[in-house]
Amino acid sequence: MNNREQWGSRTGFILAAAGSAVGLGNIWKFPYIAGENGGAAFLFIYLICIVAIGLPILNVEILLGRETQKNPVGAFKSIAGKSSIWKYAGALGVLASFTILSFYSVVGGWSLGYTVEAFKGTFSAFETLEISEKFFGESVSNVKWIIGYHTAFFLMVVGIILLGVKSGLEKASKFLMPTLLLILIILAAQGLMLDGANEGVSFLFNPDWSAVNGETFLKALGHAFFTLSLGMGAMMTYGSYLSNKDDIVNASYIIVFLDTFIAILAGVAIFTVVFSAGGEPAGGPGLIFNVLTTSLAKLPGAYFFGISFFVLLTIAAITSAISILEVSVAYLVDEFKYSRKKATLIMSILVYCAAIPCALSFNALEDVKLFVQDKGFTFFDVADFLASNLLLPLGGFFIAVFAGYVWGIDEVVKKLLKGDSQSVYFSNSILRSSSNKSIFGVLIKFLSPVLIILVLLYAISEGLKTDPPKEEMPVEQEVAPVEEVLDA
Ligand code: TRP
Repeated sequence: MNNREQWGSRTGFILAAAGSAVGLGNIWKFPYIAGENGGAAFLFIYLICIVAIGLPILNVEILLGRETQKNPVGAFKSIAGKSSIWKYAGALGVLASFTILSFYSVVGGWSLGYTVEAFKGTFSAFETLEISEKFFGESVSNVKWIIGYHTAFFLMVVGIILLGVKSGLEKASKFLMPTLLLILIILAAQGLMLDGANEGVSFLFNPDWSAVNGETFLKALGHAFFTLSLGMGAMMTYGSYLSNKDDIVNASYIIVFLDTFIAILAGVAIFTVVFSAGGEPAGGPGLIFNVLTTSLAKLPGAYFFGISFFVLLTIAAITSAISILEVSVAYLVDEFKYSRKKATLIMSILVYCAAIPCALSFNALEDVKLFVQDKGFTFFDVADFLASNLLLPLGGFFIAVFAGYVWGIDEVVKKLLKGDSQSVYFSNSILRSSSNKSIFGVLIKFLSPVLIILVLLYAISEGLKTDPPKEEMPVEQEVAPVEEVLDA
């Protein structure tokens, strides 16, 4: 009855969804927040958040898509009814898609720009952190550089979206994801062979519990959402291109495994290099742009290392960015019956324009501060903060509450398992009680909503402070000595 496009194969869907999950979040963000929050201890808490909250919500999001065959707004409408207010939860996702992409594509542009610099051999001159910081600062403050690469990155993303689900999203992911995995494994292996690699490994796997506080926990949860692409209907939209027969439960395990595995590999690849070259793990958002390039310059094979790394980063950013744009494209196609082409063009022009103030936050609009003049937020900070710390957790909260209390856990579990395979996680067969008491039910109905509310309260209290969210500002980071960070 409908001619909605579908994935060509099960692997195609899994790779595309993993491609969405694996992105700047894994390779750019994860290492630096782990670096700032005690390494292994952060990793441990983050893993708990992934398994206890990320995994169940991922199942629900994909299911919502598969069952309704709709974009987030349409999905809520078709289950809760056209006039129900739940459609606004979907609309929030479309809004988030806009907001995230407006800063994500700027960082995507940086990584494209750094790829070109890697080919040019620019990093061989990065003998000290000051040199690489200066280069980064000069690059992002150059309007032509930043807008040029942002535009190039954006065009690649739009090109893939225009090709459609099967020949665009799926083909790109099927080629790009294995390439990414291969490059990363080589980088991690090469990192492990360096002198002093041990230190990097132990930083990542030997917990220092003294570095943990409430904030670590909240950061880990926020990042779990971001890294699994949850809370704004990206996974829902990808799920809507599945057919009713397709399995979700196992696909989710694989997606979560790949995402986590790749974040850890990225951590190994980066911290081994950083430690063996005597760098500092707490380099902030500049960790890969400044610290890694400086550390690299001191190592054998630096040229190859540099190119591989930034090609990898760009690939990861592209496969994630397409999933973000796809949400709003699917919205126009489903709800307004636009052609894919028309929807893509309209949305990309809108998002492109929305991204311009973010790109200019490092140069022309550097001094335009929102909310609080002097000390306030640039457009880039606002987009990142709004999306990652408010819209996504809020979206996740609505999805969990919707599944737990409106759709009903019994219904959700029945649809996820389709009556067959039994798993301890989903059904409590020992007690023969309802799915509500299954581990899955408890996580969706109680644990997720409560923890998300805590994150939101934290995010709001952070937002009310006059300091801009420092960790999100990529320019001119101070590199604090480890002891200092651990003591803080
Ligand atoms: N998960 C991606 C990353 O780690 C980013 C991303 C893609 C995303 N799609 C999303 C984040 C949807 C939130 C929502 O880089």
